[in-house]
Parts: sequence; structure tokens; C-alpha cells
Amino acid sequence: MKKSIISLSLLLSVTQPTFAEEFSFTSQLNSNADTLLVFKQQGKTSKHFDTLNTQSSSHLSNALLAAEFKAKLGQTATILAPNNLPYKRVVVVGLGNEALTKQSLTKLGGDLSGKLELDAIKEITFDTSVIGHPDAAALLAHGINLRAYRFETYTKKKRKQKSFTIASSSSSSANDNYSALANIEQGVFLARDLISETATEMTPKDFVKAAKELKQYGVKVTVLEPKKIKKLGMGALEAVGRGSSQGSRLIVAHYEGSDDAPIALVGKGITFDSGGYSIKTGKSIARMKSDMAGAAAALGTVKALALNKSKHNVVAVMGMAANMVSETSVAPGDVVKTAEGLTVEILNTDAEGRLVLSDALWYAREHYKPQVMVDIATLTGSKVGAVGNRYAAVFSDDDALVNELTVAGKEVNENLWRLPLGYKDMLKSPIADLANIGSSGPGATTAATFLQQFVGDTKWAHIDIAGNALASSGKGEVAPGGTGYSVRLLTNWIENHKK
Ligand code: BES
Ligand code: MN
Ligand code: ZN
Repeated sequence: MKKSIISLSLLLSVTQPTFAEEFSFTSQLNSNADTLLVFKQQGKTSKHFDTLNTQSSSHLSNALLAAEFKAKLGQTATILAPNNLPYKRVVVVGLGNEALTKQSLTKLGGDLSGKLELDAIKEITFDTSVIGHPDAAALLAHGINLRAYRFETYTKKKRKQKSFTIASSSSSSANDNYSALANIEQGVFLARDLISETATEMTPKDFVKAAKELKQYGVKVTVLEPKKIKKLGMGALEAVGRGSSQGSRLIVAHYEGSDDAPIALVGKGITFDSGGYSIKTGKSIARMKSDMAGAAAALGTVKALALNKSKHNVVAVMGMAANMVSETSVAPGDVVKTAEGLTVEILNTDAEGRLVLSDALWYAREHYKPQVMVDIATLTGSKVGAVGNRYAAVFSDDDALVNELTVAGKEVNENLWRLPLGYKDMLKSPIADLANIGSSGPGATTAATFLQQFVGDTKWAHIDIAGNALASSGKGEVAPGGTGYSVRLLTNWIENHKK
């Protein structure tokens, strides 16, 4: 029997506290496992289920009747295994009655992982041949691992690793498919680690260190220090970091998988957003260690693409600063000059994301002449009000680009909803070229329109991931804590990007 094993722990950098499961892809079930999963379709009979049911003299079907099991997609019933089966427990998993897709299988894997959290479950085995999808084994493993991830740096109790033996008719292709998905997981996990880490331990300098780790995968990492930022005239990026003794940084992580013009990912990297003098009140401030999730997503995407030896040229440009309160902080009413040449009146120091992004967008377009530029940012509370946290918002004048991104997101359960640009007249200032907040109008849109002033002729989209970056509980393939939202979307989009 051919048995191929990917030990994920070996792929992980030792400095990362990331948790992951272990997977083997085989042609047969592991009869030494303590837990067997069997799938059951709704309406139709699932052969594997029927065989086991006959073997157990209808123990399974009787238990399901008692549990009122309907085989709805994702529904599970855990049954103490009868003596003639080699397992301790059999978990029957409903498949519903609709054709399973890439999205639904990933989510199903996640939901299953969420239900198998019991420490007593150590070795799990299941056969995916009954699922009529060629990549079922790899996609389920992907969902399982994405959901099993934990950021455990500060908890006494550590999660115990489970091992999965997944049987399918083509175990070697499952193994190959999963290897590519496991690399994407590494990008997601990097983003999650960076987001979940506390603001005190994940400062702009710490983020620089994390970015430099990508050098080992052939990524070129350059860092602009405060002096250089000043020299290049990036007054907006500089201003936001002024309240912190560390100052601002611009980090560039460049993976050159081809010599085409690069795709630029521009990330908002506010390692803590106190609001500055326009200080945040209320409990939302405690979530603001996640205000660098855009930068984390850009870096995580570059890591995933580099590990997968992607044939695309991708550059992540990350504007980093801690938005703090101190004597040296930027004061409301101050005017700063951006590298683009436009001056900005900072009416509200809590609208800092657009300031760091204005200079980062300028830098990306001037220095890399990208074919397309996408920025990712936890930019506005207004976006959360408009579409909540089950969507990210996308803004662009380019319909085709919006469509590409939306399709790419849908395939990986990271959905986008388009909101309009416009209301530029709301950004007037009596003393500068622009004000950093709208006098009125929809906040997510005025923020996006502010960014648009810095993209020149470059094809561009803005993704507002406010509300998507931190999850209070697990759901589907999303684990609690930093979500890494949009790493899978961006990786999928870039890998399918036409040359
Ligand atoms: N980082 C916040 C946006 C945010 C809000 C992210 C909620 C995640 C969850 C951003 O810097 C901010 O403070 N935006 C202000 C802008 C306002 C002052 C115009 C906001 O949305 O309230
Ligand atoms: Mn803010
Ligand atoms: Zn912010």
C-alpha cells in the first residue's frame, strides 16, 4: 500500500507558534484509528455507509434514527462503535443532496474539525471515494487544518495534534493537491500569527523581522527606515508613526516568479490604532492590534505564492506605523505633504489608514510600475455598518477587476461586495488639497475615494476588510482570532490571473 505522508510540523518555521494537524493520503482506511468518519448522502444511499451498516447489523442506521439524523450538509452524529468494528467511534457526516463544490468541501472540513475537538480523538480516518468531487480529500484536509489552527503563545493549555488518514481512489493526486493547499495555509497562518500577536509584541520593527523571514523562500525584502521615508517626502506615512518612538516603516516584499510587470499588493499596517489624539473610546480599541491585517494579508499572500513557486511577479508594499498618543503625535488640524505632492489636513487622527496607504500606493506605483494594484486595509467602521463581517467591501472603477476579485473570493469563501467610489467633493479642506475625512457622505466610500487620489493611472482596487480580521469564535474553516482574511482570495486571484 502506498502511503504518502506530509508532516506539516516540518514545514513550519520554528519561530512560529502555529498549530497544525497531520495528514496522510492513502488508498485504504487506517484500521488503527480511534475514530472513523462515514459520509451519508441525503435521499441517495452512500455505499460505504450501507456496507458498514450491514456489517454492524443496522447499528448505525438505528443510532441515526434515535438521533433524528437528516444527513443535512455538515450535520454529524457520533456513535459508539459496535464491537465488530475496529474503531472506538463512528462519526456519520451528512452530505446533503446537492453537488459538493470547492467552497462547500473546504467549509465542511472546517466544520468537521470544529466538531472533533475532543482530546480523546487522536487518529481519524475516512474515505472520500463516496464524495463525487475529484479533490475532496485535499479540500477536506485544507478545511480541517485551517480550522484547527490555534494561536497558543499565551495559553497554558495547548491543543493536541490529531492525525488524519484520508483514503481516496487517487491518493497520490490528493497528496499533490494538498501540498499546494498546505502552502496556502502557511500564508494564512503567517497572517493569523501576525494579527493575533499583541500590539506590544508586534510593533513595526517586529513586523519587519517577520517580513525578513520570507527571504529564505527567495523573497526580496527591503525596508525603508524613518530617515528614508522623510527623504522621499512621504509625509503622511511619517505623520502617523510620529507618536511612537519607533516611527514608521515601509516594507517591500518582492517575489519575482516572472519578468512581467508586477502585481502590487498594498497593505495597511497599523500595529495598534489608538486613534491618536482623536482617541478611540469604548471597547473597539481593544481589537486594534488587528489594524495591520491588510499588511499581514499582503505578506501572507507573498509567502503562499513563494512556497508554491508561483509563475507571477508579486510585490507587497506595506505601510507600517503604531498610531499612538504622545507629545510628538500628529495633532488634529496639522497639515502634511504626501510624496504624491498633495497636502492633507488631518482633521481626525483616527483616519490614519488612508494616510499610510496614500504614500504606500504612491511608492508601489512609482517604484514598481505595476500592471495592477490592490490595497487591503481594515479601513472603516462604516464598511462594517454597510456589509458586516461576512463580506469584505471592494471599490474600483474597473468592472473587470472587481469581477475577477469577486469570483476569486467566492471560490474560497472570502466574499466581496462592491461599494461605490465618489463623493470627492466631501474631501475639501480650506487649507490643504484634501481633508483626511469626509465632511459628510458614506465613510467607507470617502475613505476609498481619498485613496484613489494616489493611484495615478494604475489599474487599482481597494478592499476594506474592517470587521473581517479578527473572529471571536470559529466557524467553517475560520479559526478564532486573526483570520488571515483575503490571503486565500488574493492567492487564488493571482494564480488565475491571465498573463
Ligand atoms: N482601524 C479603523 C477602522 C476599523 C473599525 C477597523 C472597526 C476594524 C474595526 C480606522 O483606522 C478608523 O479608525 N476609522 C475611522 C475613520 C473615521 C475617523 C473617519 C472609523 O471608521 O471610525
Ligand atoms: Mn483609526
Ligand atoms: Zn485604523
